[in-house]
Amino acid sequence: MLKIEKLVAGYGKVQVLHEITIEVPKGKLVTLIGSNGAGKTTTLRAISGMIEPSSGSITLNGTSIAGLPSHEITRLGLAHSPEGRRVFPTLSVTDNLLLGAFPRLTGKRPKGEVEKDMQRMFELFPRLQERREQLAGTLSGGEQQMLAMARALMLNPEVLLLDEPSMGLAPKLVEEVFATIARLKQASITMLLVEQFAAAALDVADFGYVLENGRLAGSGPAAQLKNDPAVRAAYLGAAH
Ligand SMILES: Nc1ncnc2c1ncn2[C@@H]1O[C@H](COP(=O)(O)OP(=O)(O)OP(=O)(O)O)[C@@H](O)[C@H]1O
Ligand SMILES: [Mg+2]
Repeated sequence: MLKIEKLVAGYGKVQVLHEITIEVPKGKLVTLIGSNGAGKTTTLRAISGMIEPSSGSITLNGTSIAGLPSHEITRLGLAHSPEGRRVFPTLSVTDNLLLGAFPRLTGKRPKGEVEKDMQRMFELFPRLQERREQLAGTLSGGEQQMLAMARALMLNPEVLLLDEPSMGLAPKLVEEVFATIARLKQASITMLLVEQFAAAALDVADFGYVLENGRLAGSGPAAQLKNDPAVRAAYLGAAH
């Protein structure tokens, strides 16, 4: 499980996060909601080592990862699917997936295992299998998002961080992304999800945290948060 305690982080002299405490239990889906600029992406960046926390602790299955270089954190089993669809456009779908497995490969890991993982990804994302030889840059936006998620999963991660997987997608594809997240949850993948569609995120999550100006403003079981009048007014809007 992933445990974040009193995390303080920011950019240069600007402090963005003020003593954030979040727990992501094994096999659970936890969502972090909040307005634009609240610090959601910054939280994920500090966890995965893209920025260095100024203080606080972060542990992955009991191992302290705060301040470690990001490649080391990846090797320990933390996968981060960042904001925006990050795929290698000039490589095929298959090669993108192989690169995802690379950080955890050691001389000891049998090659067959990676092929098995790839097969598992094709079962989760059948559309990627149909397009396995296609260059990633020519996939549709939704397909690239699937590939970005599948590539992160190829790490066989202990925890998957997902930053706005639905960003920039048409409504039908947004639905598909959420259906995929629900399938990953069924497969007991441990996830921390950041989403602009807070209502949909709370529908699929077990537990939620609300971030306001870099501070935790609330937390609770997702269903409870969804019915909280203050959360509804601030983040879910009248339409939800
Ligand atoms: N590289 C950076 N350098 C300086 N300030 C930054 C940087 N990235 C983000 N910030 C600032 O940190 C604050 C939190 O940004 P962050 O990206 O974490 O928000 P967010 O909750 O992910 O928002 P959104 O919903 O818009 O993605 C904002 O005020 C932002 O301007
Ligand atoms: Mg963000």
